Amino acid sequence: MTELHRTLPASWYRSQGLYQLERRASWYLLGPITRFREVGAKVEYEIAQRPLVAFRCSGDDPSPGPEEIQVQCAETKRFLRHHVTPTGLVFAALGDEAPDFYEYFPDLEPLLEKVNFTKLPYRHSIKYEGRFNWKTMVDGYQECLHCQYTHPSFSVFYPLTSYAVHNHQNFSQHMTDPEKPDDGLFLYFFPNCTLNVYGGGMSSFRVCPTSDPNVTRMEFDYYHMESGEKFTQYYKFVRQVAMEDYELCEKAQDNLVRGIYSEGILNPDKENGVSFYQGRVFELVCEQYATDQGCRQREKELLLARKDIRQL
Ligand SMILES: [Fe+2]
Repeated sequence: MTELHRTLPASWYRSQGLYQLERRASWYLLGPITRFREVGAKVEYEIAQRPLVAFRCSGDDPSPGPEEIQVQCAETKRFLRHHVTPTGLVFAALGDEAPDFYEYFPDLEPLLEKVNFTKLPYRHSIKYEGRFNWKTMVDGYQECLHCQYTHPSFSVFYPLTSYAVHNHQNFSQHMTDPEKPDDGLFLYFFPNCTLNVYGGGMSSFRVCPTSDPNVTRMEFDYYHMESGEKFTQYYKFVRQVAMEDYELCEKAQDNLVRGIYSEGILNPDKENGVSFYQGRVFELVCEQYATDQGCRQREKELLLARKDIRQL
């Protein structure tokens, strides 16, 4: 029998020390290129607690070209690497440590081909804080066992009996009905971004850690082909689903903080999305810990060497 995956321990959802280890250079989704239509209009982001801005630097075509987009660290003004996919999604890398885009997401672009993001107009953004760890929200996004009960309105459009998650390198694809692979596009990008195309529109949210491991800032961007009443209806529907998840996460975090839950086994089929991303968190935390320990060891050796030199 294959070994069953275990959840991360509950303490990882409260610990300040581990929380600091989770921040690391990755590729982050900023949004469709239509978000940066106006030259010079800076769009602000805060990713892994670092402020950055993205903007269009030149051009007058309705849709900016990849070379017309710039991403900059808001504090140091240093330009950051970015990548625009052929159908118009913009990603940015925070640090030089991040690998090449295609190394990080080797099989992402073929999946994005079915949506022309260059034609999807930006409509609205919203952000607010929630009393939960960022992983509490990602846990909920990466499985759908809760959906039938928590999201009755969503379940009408997407009956969740055949729900499946396909894990790829650094991202997961959610299939509401594997028989209809072209019905909607739901993606989770490790570690904290999602993209949800359905109902004529698209929402993308970022789960942003704050200085408190028990508080997360949720940032949502909404895009839709239509404005006016059609967008209003879509927005009302997606906000309802988002608030249902929000309440669930606050209640789950209360239980984690009170110690009601400590650790468990993940369903290898229904929770394969959770075990995929928790496995990545575990690997990265272990790598970072080993690096930090290695640095401390080298510092100690250096200090001893300096002491020896002085005694000569
Ligand atoms: Fe949900």
